[in-house]
Amino acid sequence: MNIDHYRAYISAETMMGPNSVRILAELFEKYPLRLAPDDAILDLGCGTGLTSLVIAKETGARVFANDLWVSAEENEKRFAEWGVDGQITPVCEDANNLTFTKKQFRALVSIDSYHYFAGRGGFFQEKILPFMTDGGEVLIGIPGLKDAYAGRAEELLCAWLGEDAHLFKTPKCWEEIIGDDSRIESVKTWEMECFGEAWDDWLATDHEFALGDRKYYETIIKPYTCFVGIYIRIRNN
Ligand SMILES: C[S@@+](CC[C@H](N)C(=O)[O-])C[C@H]1O[C@@H](n2cnc3c(N)ncnc32)[C@H](O)[C@@H]1O
Repeated sequence: MNIDHYRAYISAETMMGPNSVRILAELFEKYPLRLAPDDAILDLGCGTGLTSLVIAKETGARVFANDLWVSAEENEKRFAEWGVDGQITPVCEDANNLTFTKKQFRALVSIDSYHYFAGRGGFFQEKILPFMTDGGEVLIGIPGLKDAYAGRAEELLCAWLGEDAHLFKTPKCWEEIIGDDSRIESVKTWEMECFGEAWDDWLATDHEFALGDRKYYETIIKPYTCFVGIYIRIRNN
C-alpha cells in the first residue's frame, strides 16, 4: 500500500496519535488481507475513521467503523465528505458490549485503541472471537513497552502517562493476554518497525496532545516504548 495516496486525509484534525496510516500500512504489508466486496471488516476503535477510509480503499470490502469517543454522526459526516459513506458504516459502541451479528467479520483491524479496553486474559475469547468468521484474521497495532523493560511500565512511563502507564504492555505480554482457544489457530506479536516515522508525523502537527508528547519523546517515549503488532488467525473449520 502506498501511504502517499492518503496524505490529503492525514492531518491534525483526523490524527489522534502517532500516524495510524503508517501503522496500518505495516500490518497490511506483513499480513495482506484478501477480501471480497461482500466481506465485512471491523475497524475497532477507529477514532475519526481515517484508518476506516484506508481499509475501505485498500481492501474493497464493507467496513464497519466502530468508536466510543467519536460519535457515529460525526464519522458519518466525514465519510460522506470523503465519498465513502456507501462502503463504510459508522457505529458507536463500547468494545466491551458489541452488538454485531455472530461470525459477521472476516477481518478485524484495531489501531492505537485495543490497549484501552482489552488488556485482560479472556477478553478476546469473550468479546471479539464470537464476531469473527472461521478462517478470519485480526490485525492490531498498539503502543506498548519494549520487551527489555517488562514489568517496569509504571516506573518508566508514569511521568508521561500518569495512571495510564499500566496500559502499555510488551509484545510477549500481549501474546499471553490474547491466550488460546480451540478456534484460534495462531497468535503472533512483535515490535513494529514504523515507530520513528509514525511518531515524527504526529509530533510535526500542532495538535495540543502532540505538543505535550514532544516534551517526553526523547527521554521516555523513544527509549522505552514501541508499537506492538498483533496478528491472530482464526481456525478454518
Ligand atoms: C488514540 S485513539 C485512536 C483512534 C484511531 N484508531 C487512530 O489510530 O487514530 C483511541 C480510540 O480508542 C477508542 N476506544 C477507547 N475505549 C474504547 C472502548 N471501550 N470501545 C471502543 N472504542 C474505544 C476511543 O474511542 C478512541 O477513538
